[in-house]
Amino acid sequence: DPRLQAISNAIRGVCSSGEKTGIMFQDITTLLLDHKAFKNTVDIFVDRYKDMNISVVAGVEARGFMFGPTIALAIGAKFVPLRKPKKLPGEVIAEAYELEYGSDCLEMHVSAVEAGERAIVIDDLVATGGTLSAAISLLERVGAEVVECACVIGLREVKGQRRLNGKPLYILVEPREIDSC
Ligand code: PRP
Ligand code: MG
Repeated sequence: DPRLQAISNAIRGVCSSGEKTGIMFQDITTLLLDHKAFKNTVDIFVDRYKDMNISVVAGVEARGFMFGPTIALAIGAKFVPLRKPKKLPGEVIAEAYELEYGSDCLEMHVSAVEAGERAIVIDDLVATGGTLSAAISLLERVGAEVVECACVIGLREVKGQRRLNGKPLYILVEPREIDSC
């Protein structure tokens, strides 16, 4: 797909400063500034999922929120936010997951998804796959069928694939390398 190179070019590999100094991360804010690349990113996901009978697009806070709602609107699905703890007002289920250092947790409104619904999970990036695995678990606990997880960025032989509960993972581009951190 000729659109993928421009999408990749619009993403920067940067070194973090502050609390997590020296960690290389992928900055998708520059993709959001590039109208054509941003639109192409959404369009690729929409083309892929529009005829797959998907009724739930679940997006992972925070960066999954930048892509998920637009995709949901375009394919005629609802958007379900998977949020960090104590952010959602209604009754939630929670799923903890391991990070490189420590752990985190995602929550979902129990009444947001019905058993038997077909769902996709959207996030900006997959690294270890821990975040997506927690998202899959939340959806499966309410009886939804997770058809696929989709990320803008990820390694082709994602280590995290092992942790995705056997679910397919769709990735647009590889992480952009930088010389040093
Ligand atoms: C980043 C990224 C993914 C997750 C991927 O989110 O946006 O959600 O890490 O890592 P994993 O595959 O190893 O689980 P982060 O938790 O840093 O927060 P943010 O999206 O709120 O910025
Ligand atoms: Mg995130």
